[in-house]
Amino acid sequence: MEEFFEKIKVEDISDNVFSLIGKDWMLITAGNSEAYNMMTASWGTAGVLWRKPVIITFVRPQRYTYQFLEKHPYFSVSFFREEHREILNLCGTTSGRDLNKMQIAGLSAIETPNQTITFKEAKLTLECRKIYFDDIDPAFFQLFDLEKIYSNKDYHRFYIGEIIYAWKSKIN
Ligand SMILES: Cc1cc2nc3c(=O)[nH]c(=O)nc-3n(C[C@H](O)[C@H](O)[C@H](O)COP(=O)(O)O)c2cc1C
Repeated sequence: MEEFFEKIKVEDISDNVFSLIGKDWMLITAGNSEAYNMMTASWGTAGVLWRKPVIITFVRPQRYTYQFLEKHPYFSVSFFREEHREILNLCGTTSGRDLNKMQIAGLSAIETPNQTITFKEAKLTLECRKIYFDDIDPAFFQLFDLEKIYSNKDYHRFYIGEIIYAWKSKIN
C-alpha cells in the first residue's frame, strides 16, 4: 500500500468534499482480496461524529455491494480522476451479480492494512471501519418528493465509517 499511497491527515484533503462526492463520485468497495465488490455512489457525507472523522454512505438493499458491507467490518471509499469516469459509470450501472467486478480492466485491486480493498488508480482512498448503520425510516421524512426517490420502498441503509486512514496517491 505504502508503495503507491501516502497516509495523510483528513484535514489535509484538499479537494472540496461536495465536488468529490457529488460530482466526481466515489467507489464504495467491501470484501477482501478473495472476494470483493464495488459500486459507484454520489450520495454521502463526510465530517466529524463522536470525535472521529467519518464518512457516511447510503446503499440500497438490493445492491450486491450491500452484502459485502454487511459481512465485513471495513470498507473503502475511493476517488478517481476524470479519466476513470467510464469505469465509475460501469460500476454504477452494472451489478456485480452480472459482471465479475474483480476483473474490470483498468482497476488494480490493492489490499489495505485492514484487509479491505482499494485500487492503485485511485487518487484518494478513505479506509473505513463500520461503526454504525441504520435504515432510512420513511416515517421521519419531511421531504415531499419521497415517492420519486423511493417508489420501490428500497430505503437506503447508511453506514457510518470511521476514517482510519486517508491515503493519497503518490502516482495519480
Ligand atoms: C453516479 C451514480 C451514483 C450512484 N449513487 C448511489 C448511491 O449513493 N447509493 C446507491 O445505493 N446506489 C447508487 N448508485 C447505483 C449503484 O452504483 C448501481 O446500482 C450499481 O450497479 C450497484 O452495483 P452492485 O449491485 O454491484 O453493488 C449510483 C449510480 C451512479 C451511476
